[in-house]
Amino acid sequence: MNYAFARAYAKLNLSLDVVSRRDDGYHDLEMVMQSVSLFDTVAVRAEDGDEINVVSNARHIPNDERNIAVKAARAFLSAVGIKRKINITIEKRIPSSAGLAGGSADGAAALMILDRLLETNLPEKELSGIGLSVGADIPFCLVGGTALARGRGEILTPLDAMPDCRIVIAKPRRGMSTGRVFEKVDNSEIFKRPNTGALLEAIGGYDLEGTAKNVYNVFEPIVAEEIPEIYDIKKTMLDGGAMCASMTGSGSAVFGIFRGAPEAAEAAKKLSGKYDAVFSTEPRKHGVIFL
Ligand code: C5P
Repeated sequence: MNYAFARAYAKLNLSLDVVSRRDDGYHDLEMVMQSVSLFDTVAVRAEDGDEINVVSNARHIPNDERNIAVKAARAFLSAVGIKRKINITIEKRIPSSAGLAGGSADGAAALMILDRLLETNLPEKELSGIGLSVGADIPFCLVGGTALARGRGEILTPLDAMPDCRIVIAKPRRGMSTGRVFEKVDNSEIFKRPNTGALLEAIGGYDLEGTAKNVYNVFEPIVAEEIPEIYDIKKTMLDGGAMCASMTGSGSAVFGIFRGAPEAAEAAKKLSGKYDAVFSTEPRKHGVIFL
């Protein structure tokens, strides 16, 4: 086999809390992560040779070494000590600078496809370690579903699936880089935080009401100060019957949880008139699936 392709699903943060600043300059986080049905398609062909190429339908994604799927493929080949010509094709749907792990999802898919094509059968932990060296969300994207993530996002505890619902996602045109968001964070100045324990209990009890009540992201007020459209999207979702609405990751995409499809569709329609990137999704149980 020299060719395979997969769907790489986006993730949301049902919660995001900053625990502490580390000596290496990074921050330890505590997050509840959820895969959703918005996906990129990643195809990989492996041939004799020694180069990595990528093409995609998205103009804003670099078609070179800066592409996370290329970085992941390079890290993988170096870890397993194999030389091949790798051609990666990405059909992009997940917006960038959104907090939806679009790049990490592609990276995770590239790793899983290469592990299959080159018959390396790496243990999950090793694949996760290679992923983490490329992007903090790759370890989660490799597994997907619903999980508690700690550390930089690599210490994962799988959770029961979140209760069934509809999730509308909308993204303002502008985003803020992850580095910039962390620069602006002062952990001693965060006065509202998610109650992660209560969120875990609600998910464990298949309680959608309790889950929605405990969705919170400490980065939201920091990013919304510069990108007020975040509040506009939240208001439209909440006015349209969302049980909660929150920014995901370091933004700037916002998601709203809806109990039923009709009100979700109505809210998505309203947002589509104003924002380019609007998606009607639902929770997924996997981060990557082979097609
Ligand atoms: O993960 P990424 O390389 O996009 O992160 C950009 C910057 O954000 C890092 O260089 C670091 O300064 C900051 N960061 C952090 N703690 C994390 C993740 C990122 O401080 N857990």
